[in-house]
Amino acid sequence: MDLTRYSRCLLSNYASPEIAIARGEGSRVWDDEGREYLDMGAGIAVSSLGHAHPKWVEAVAEQAATLAHCTNLYAIPPQAELAERLVAKAGPGKMLFCNSGAEANETLLKLSRLHGLRKSGTEGKVFRVVCAEGSFHGRTFGGMSATGQEKIRKGFGPLLEGFSFARLNDLEDFASKITDETAAVLVEPIQGESGIQVAEDDFLRGLRQLCDERGALLMLDEVQCGIGRAGDFFAFQRSGIQPDAIALAKGLGGGFPIGAAWVGEAHADLFSPGSHGTTFGGGPIACRAALAVLDVIEQESLVERANELGAQFRKRLDVISAAHPKLLAGTRGRGLMVGLSMRVSAVAFVQDLRKRGLLTVPAGGEVVRFLPPLNVSSEDLEKAAAIVETAIEDWHLNED
Ligand SMILES: Cc1ncc(COP(=O)(O)O)c(C=O)c1O
Repeated sequence: MDLTRYSRCLLSNYASPEIAIARGEGSRVWDDEGREYLDMGAGIAVSSLGHAHPKWVEAVAEQAATLAHCTNLYAIPPQAELAERLVAKAGPGKMLFCNSGAEANETLLKLSRLHGLRKSGTEGKVFRVVCAEGSFHGRTFGGMSATGQEKIRKGFGPLLEGFSFARLNDLEDFASKITDETAAVLVEPIQGESGIQVAEDDFLRGLRQLCDERGALLMLDEVQCGIGRAGDFFAFQRSGIQPDAIALAKGLGGGFPIGAAWVGEAHADLFSPGSHGTTFGGGPIACRAALAVLDVIEQESLVERANELGAQFRKRLDVISAAHPKLLAGTRGRGLMVGLSMRVSAVAFVQDLRKRGLLTVPAGGEVVRFLPPLNVSSEDLEKAAAIVETAIEDWHLNED
C-alpha cells in the first residue's frame, strides 16, 4: 500500500505507519508485501486468541449471518450469557457493555458520581477520584482526566474537575489524598502504557481498606491486564481483594471491539433506566466474539499457560538483560504482560525488532512491551527472545 495515502487523508494523531498488515494467523501476521512477522504485541493486548482462531471466526461469522445488530431496546441472548459468564468470574454483581476501554472507564466514572450522590445526598458534593501517577485510562474527557500522564492531557484543558494523583504502591500518598469528598479510587492493577508497572498485592489490599474506611469505591481498570493476560483471569485476583467495579475491553473481544463494566452487587442499583447506555454496546457479534474468547481460554487453560509461559519468557529475557547491563535494565510484569526495560529509547529498538520480523510495543519511553496472544507457543516465545538477543548483541557492538 502507498503509505503516503495516510498523511494525505488521515488526521495525524498516530505516528506515520511504516508497514500495512494484511493478514494474520495464530501468533503471526503478514504485511501487504508478504513479509512475515511474529506478533508479540497482539494489537496491544487485543488478539488474545491470536489471529483468525477458527472458533472465534466461526462465532463471529455465524452471528454476522444470523443477526449482526440489535438495539438494547430488545433482549440480546449472547449479551445475557456473556454477562452471566463474567459475573461468575468477577463475583456477585452486574455488567454493562460498551465498545472500548475508554467507554468502560467512563461507566466507572459515572458510577462514582452516582455513588457520591447517594453518599452525600447532594449532587456535586462527593465526586473526587484519586488515580495513580503514570496511569492511562483512555482518550475521552473522563479518561484523560483520570490519566496521570501530562503528555496525554496536554492541550485539552480544562479537563474534568476533581481528579488527583498519588504514587503507585505508595499507600501513604493515597491515604493523604482520599478525603471525605472522594467518591472513588481508580487504578490499574498493572499499568501498561507507562511501561508495565505492577501494583503490589499489599498495596491493593491497603487501598481496599482505605476505601472501606472512607466510603469510597475501589474501581480497577483491567482493560489491558485483564482476561487472563497477567496469569489470573483478573490481575487483581492474586491480591485476594474484591473491588467495587472493574473496567474491561481489549482482550475480551479477541479482536472484535467490546468494552465492559462490572459493578459489584452493593452498587449495581446505582444505574437505572436512562442513566447510561450506548447504541452498539453488547451487540450480538461482539458478545459472540467474547464468548468464543472465554470458551477457548477455559478449554485450552490459557490463564494457567499465560502464567507458566510468561514466567519462562521473563526468565529468558532476564538472562539477556543481565548479559547486557549497558543497554538493558531488567524485566517487569506478570503472565504474558512483560516489559523489558532499556537504558536507551525503546522506540528505536522496537523499530529495529520490527525490521527483524518481530512486533512489540514501546511503553513509557524506555520499555519494550511483550503482549503476545495467550495461546502463543513456547517455540514462538523462544524465537522472539532469540531475535531480541541478536538485536541486543548487534546494538551492543555498535555501542562499543
Ligand atoms: C489500562 C487502559 N485503560 C483504558 C484504555 C483505553 O482503551 P481504548 O483504547 O479501548 O479506549 C487502555 C488502552 O490502551 C488501557 O491500556
